[in-house]
Amino acid sequence: EFHLQPKALHLASDGPFGKFDRRQLQRGFQVFKEVCSACHSLRLVAFRDLQALGYTEAEVKAIADQWAIQQPAVDPETGEATTRKSIAADRFPLPFPNEVAARAANGNALPPDQSLMTKTHHGGAAYVYSILTGYQDQPPELLKKFPDAKTGTGLHYNPYFANLNLAMAPPLNDGQVTYSDGTAATVDQMAQDVSAFLVWTAEPKLENRHSAGIATVAFLIVFSVLTFLSYRNIWAGRP
Ligand code: HEM
Repeated sequence: EFHLQPKALHLASDGPFGKFDRRQLQRGFQVFKEVCSACHSLRLVAFRDLQALGYTEAEVKAIADQWAIQQPAVDPETGEATTRKSIAADRFPLPFPNEVAARAANGNALPPDQSLMTKTHHGGAAYVYSILTGYQDQPPELLKKFPDAKTGTGLHYNPYFANLNLAMAPPLNDGQVTYSDGTAATVDQMAQDVSAFLVWTAEPKLENRHSAGIATVAFLIVFSVLTFLSYRNIWAGRP
């Protein structure tokens, strides 16, 4: 009774005719880049994929250039890890070298990869949006009923998270990013934008699927009408 279903979230990509709102996807990418990517990986997406968001090749190169990527070889002199700048063909580098380091930085919790988050998590984009906007104080009735559910140190109460206490601190604050298109960066706006972006990362070909579906259904309707008419024609005049 204290765990809530995701709030309603309406995106331009919803429904059989849905198309991505590319300006929103660019804003969402900015939120991912400036906020989420500190902890969450996006391991299935390559920089060049961002061209689908409307960035030019030069812009994609410039974005990739800002991300250092760890090389397999260590420095032969110092034995330390070496890095190079990413190129457009690279996937997004991981924020931590391995799971141990990721957990060490996050109170022993593991920030899940975000590439497919809106497909793998029940509630999809609406779930991501609800988590981001759902932090609140613990209701006193909950504590009365389940004293053990008290939010522990390093945890944060969020009724949209299945076990109610989440290791991720609220990642968004009003005005956290500055959108170049002038959109006001409220928590709600940033949460919607990054959720829309994660719908794209999880299904970049969503628009092709939608248009193929519409073409298929349209064809089947025409075909059904033709079939019906030829049936009437063939059997016309027979008892
Ligand atoms: C978990 C999204 C930023 C650390 C989650 C979950 C979501 C999410 C939806 C829940 C996953 C699940 O149900 O399994 C986001 C988004 C971010 C963001 C969209 C950017 C706006 C961050 C940042 C950090 C972080 C900056 C680190 C400072 C974590 C950790 C978990 C988590 C440690 C696992 C929590 C647990 O299992 O208790 N994130 N996150 N996240 N996130 Fe984030």
